[in-house]
Amino acid sequence: MEKVRVGIIGCGMITARRHAPEYTDNPHSEVVALYDFDQERAKELAAGYGAKVYATVEELIADPEIDAVSICSPNSTHAPYSIMALEAGKHVLCEKPMALELADTRKMMEAAEKAGKILMIGHNQRLLPTHRKARELLQSGMIGNILSIQSNFRHRGPEYWSVNRSNSTWFFDKNKAHFGALGDLGAHKLDIIRFLTNDEVEDICCETVTRDKRYPDGRLIDLEDNASAIFHMKSGVFGTMNVSWTNYGEEDNSTIIYGDKGVMKIFGDFADDIVVELRDDTRVKYQVGAISTNQKQLKSGIIDDFVDSIITGRQPTVTGKDGHNTLAVIVAGKKSAAERRWLQVEY
Ligand SMILES: NC(=O)c1ccc[n+]([C@@H]2O[C@H](COP(=O)([O-])OP(=O)(O)OC[C@H]3O[C@@H](n4cnc5c(N)ncnc54)[C@H](O)[C@@H]3O)[C@@H](O)[C@H]2O)c1
Repeated sequence: MEKVRVGIIGCGMITARRHAPEYTDNPHSEVVALYDFDQERAKELAAGYGAKVYATVEELIADPEIDAVSICSPNSTHAPYSIMALEAGKHVLCEKPMALELADTRKMMEAAEKAGKILMIGHNQRLLPTHRKARELLQSGMIGNILSIQSNFRHRGPEYWSVNRSNSTWFFDKNKAHFGALGDLGAHKLDIIRFLTNDEVEDICCETVTRDKRYPDGRLIDLEDNASAIFHMKSGVFGTMNVSWTNYGEEDNSTIIYGDKGVMKIFGDFADDIVVELRDDTRVKYQVGAISTNQKQLKSGIIDDFVDSIITGRQPTVTGKDGHNTLAVIVAGKKSAAERRWLQVEY
């Protein structure tokens, strides 16, 4: 079988740490093309993969030899590049958040439908074996009916991760990022909440603040560096989510689910991946696997899932609809914070 030939747009950290190595590790795919706004960066990465560097996105997308494209450039480029690639007949794996607005996610899904190509979104946390195990245990009824859920993602900020290790990173640029911690980290947590509960968010009340991140000239950034949300799922499950770019201690990527028969803690106890505490005081521990941190990246599995969905024609584990529904909650959360009130999530 011929390999899936992949072009990657954006050659920053997520490409260097995840997309490029995971396509190369997969026996059914290879990285053949790269593009970055910064041509030197693309050339540097290309040297390690034997890939061709393109001078423009248009040229890369027009290459008939390319079957699939990963979009790993700043958030503002996700929708335009994805649509361009889908219209040219490529399968697309687009990083999170899927887009800036719901009008764009709809256009992306339409373009995929029309082209008959796969559109997958980079919500990698649902590919994590630990989250999959947790979902299986929840569905088996181990902790009974879910009453509430709490999920956190707090690290020291994207300027400690981005290829541009400074406060001039695009993550702090309102035009390129559009969302602060709410879109960047909330995209992971809201998707995992949807995945674990197998439910959608009904309404949300969110607060966003900027406490510590500053531009090089000393002004606080125009985007939130912290966000907290409370929400109800359609089933009535009550949820809370805290995301932060100002946790200068150990990274926190935990989720706790409270059921009427017990509690499930995922990455809440640093010694164990899942701990279930039942009403009768039994404690069950499952060591399934760790979660990536900004310092230590582990294989995400998202690339393998994308490649397999291209080869077999099955749906990817994270669909365009998943990206859309997760973005709908982020958009409602941002609006709720701006208007300081509860809002129904509009899908
Ligand atoms: N799924 C995850 O866990 C995860 C983790 C990190 C980042 N991401 C997402 O991946 C995307 C890239 O983030 P990153 O961490 O690699 O950022 P980064 O700052 O490390 O790299 C961004 C790269 O994009 C390039 N770029 C800027 N404008 C461009 C344009 N118009 N066209 C092409 N390239 C352009 C930059 O030169 C840079 O090389 C973002 O959308 C981010 O949200 C996802």
